Amino acid sequence: MSAESRIDDLVARMTLRQKVGQMTQPERMHITPDEVRDHHIGSVLSGGGSTPGENRPADWVEMNDAFWAASVEEGEGLLPIPLLYGVDAIHGHNNVLGATVFPHNIGLGCANDPDLMVRIARATALEILATGVEWTFAPTLAVARDDHWGRTYESYSEDPERVGTLGEAFVRGLQGDLGDEAVAACLKHWVGDGGTTGGVDQGETTCSEDELRRLHIAPYLPALRAGALSVMASYNSWNGEKCHGHRGLLTDLLKGELGFEGLVVSDWNGIDQLSDDYVEAIVQSVNAGVDLFMVPDQWRDFIDGTIAAVEAGRIPMDRIDDAVRRILRVKERYGLFERPRPAERPHSDTALFGSAAHRAIAREAVRTSLVCLKNEGGHLPVSKHARILVTGRNANDRGHQCGGFTVAWQGTSGNEHVQGGTSIWEGLHAVAPHAVLSPDASILDGESAGFDVAIVVIGEGPYAEGLGDVRSGGTVDPGSGGATPTPGPVETSQGGTPYAATLDHHLNHPEDLATLEKIRAAGIPVVTVFVSGRPVVVEHEIDASDAFVAAWLPGSEGAGVADVLLGDHDFQGTLSFSWPRTDSDRFNRGDDAYDPRFPYGFGLNAEGHRV
Ligand code: GLC
Repeated sequence: MSAESRIDDLVARMTLRQKVGQMTQPERMHITPDEVRDHHIGSVLSGGGSTPGENRPADWVEMNDAFWAASVEEGEGLLPIPLLYGVDAIHGHNNVLGATVFPHNIGLGCANDPDLMVRIARATALEILATGVEWTFAPTLAVARDDHWGRTYESYSEDPERVGTLGEAFVRGLQGDLGDEAVAACLKHWVGDGGTTGGVDQGETTCSEDELRRLHIAPYLPALRAGALSVMASYNSWNGEKCHGHRGLLTDLLKGELGFEGLVVSDWNGIDQLSDDYVEAIVQSVNAGVDLFMVPDQWRDFIDGTIAAVEAGRIPMDRIDDAVRRILRVKERYGLFERPRPAERPHSDTALFGSAAHRAIAREAVRTSLVCLKNEGGHLPVSKHARILVTGRNANDRGHQCGGFTVAWQGTSGNEHVQGGTSIWEGLHAVAPHAVLSPDASILDGESAGFDVAIVVIGEGPYAEGLGDVRSGGTVDPGSGGATPTPGPVETSQGGTPYAATLDHHLNHPEDLATLEKIRAAGIPVVTVFVSGRPVVVEHEIDASDAFVAAWLPGSEGAGVADVLLGDHDFQGTLSFSWPRTDSDRFNRGDDAYDPRFPYGFGLNAEGHRV
C-alpha cells in the first residue's frame, strides 16, 4: 500500500471527532495518556521549561512511551494513529538537564558555517531521540531587522541569504534521510516575524509583498526544498492581518505557489488573537490553512468548537480532510507508523545525550561564533601563564551564557541548572593556572594584586520572546495586530514588562561599566567579553576596553571562549547583524546611508586584522 493510499484509507475510516482530535495539540501538563486515547489526539508538546519527572532522558522516554501507547490503543471507536511529540529544541535539546546546549542562532550566524550546522543538527537530533521525542520546532528562519526584538538571538542574521543557507543546512542535519537518526523539522514563524515595527514581539510587519518575499519568505525556499516536514504560523500580522488567519500566506502562497505538502502548526494559542469569539477564531484559522492546532490547555474547547463549526457548515469537510491528510503525511514520511514505541527505539536514553563528542561540536561552534570588535594594545591572545583577573557578572554563569529557552523558558542564572559544560571562567581556569575569579572585581579593593590583564565578562541576562523586547512605552495588544503599543504601562505580548527601555547598555547595566572603569583605574589592560542575545549600544564599554569580543549566547561550552582568548584558536567570526551606535539606529545591510558602529561582516583576528 503506498503512503498516499494508506492516508486515503485512514481518512475514509475516521469519524469527524477522530479527525479533529488528530488536528489537536495540547501541552503535556494539560492532558493524560487516557485523554490522548479517548480524544484521538494527534500530537502533544512541551512548552519551554515543561519537563517530566526529574527531567532526565529516562523520564522523557517514560512520558512519551505512555502518550504513544495511548495513541495506538485499539478497541471500540479507536483508530491507532501514533502521536507526534514536539519540543523547542532550538539550541540543543535545551529543556533537558545535562543536554548539550549549543550557541543560539545569532552566534551560529556569525560562524556562518553550513557544514557545522549539519553537525550541530545531527547531534541535536540524537539528543532529541534519546528522550523519545520525534519533532522539534526548529529552525527559526526569522530575519531579525530590529535589535529591539526579544527574539533577535533566535535569528541567524539580518540577511535573508545567510538565514536561508544556514536554515537549509540545519533541516538537512535534523531530517537527513528520515531514517532512525532523524527528527522532524519545523520552519518558523511563517512569516515576517523578524520584521515588526519597532521589533515588537508578535507585532505588525508593514511592507510590500515584494519586500516580504525578498526579506522574509526567501529563507524558506531552500529549507522547503530540503524537505522540511512542518511550518509554524507566526503571531505577527502583515499589513494589519494576522498570519494565523491569512489564507493568502498560509494556503495560496505556502501550499499553493510553493507546493508545501507538510503540515502547518499554529503557535501557542496563536489562534486566540484572531477573534474574541473562540469558534470564530477557529473558523478563520482552519479555513486560512492551519492544520494542527497548538491549544495547550483549551484543547477540549478547540475540539468541540471545530466540530460545531463543521456541523454548522462554517468549515468545509474537505478542509478538515486536507488538514488530517497533511498530518498523516508527515507521520508517514517520518516513518512514525513503522517506528517502535519510544521505550524500544534504538536511540532512546543512550549515552550520546550530552556526550563529549557532542560537546566538542558545541565548543567548536563557540570558537567560530566569537566576533572580535576591538583589539588594541596587543593584549590578544592572552598568555596562559599571565596573571589574569577574571571578572564581570557573566564570567561564571552558565545560565546567562545559555540565555533563554534553556531548562526554563526565560532561561536561568548561576551554574546549577546547566549541568555539564563549562562557564567561561571554568574554561579559562582549566588552562590558565594564574587566573583568579572576582566577579565584582572586589579583589582590587585591596591592591592591584599585580594582574597582567583582566578578562571582563559582562552583558545581558537571559530572556525569551516578548519579555526580551526593548521598548520604552505602551502595552502590546496582540489581538489588535500589535501594530503599535497603546499608551500606558509597558507590557509585552506575554504580559509583564520588557527587558529594557533602551539598547543603551550602560543605562540597563551600569554595573558593567563600573567594573570596567574600576579595572582601568587600577591600570590593568581590559579584554571585554560581551554575552548578549543581540547587538546593543556599548560605546562607553568599548571605550573602556582594550579589546572587545562579542560572544553572543555561547551555550554550555564556555571553554570555547578560552580556546580563542588564550590563543589555541584564532577569531574567525564575522557580524551577521549590523551593530548600532545609538538606541535609535536601525541599520541593516543594504540600507541607504548605512552607518552602523560596526558593519555587517565585520570581525577582527588576534593580530587586529579583518577576518
Ligand atoms: C512559543 C513560540 C514558538 C514555540 C511555541 C511552543 O510561544 O512563539 O516559537 O515553538 O511557543 O513553545
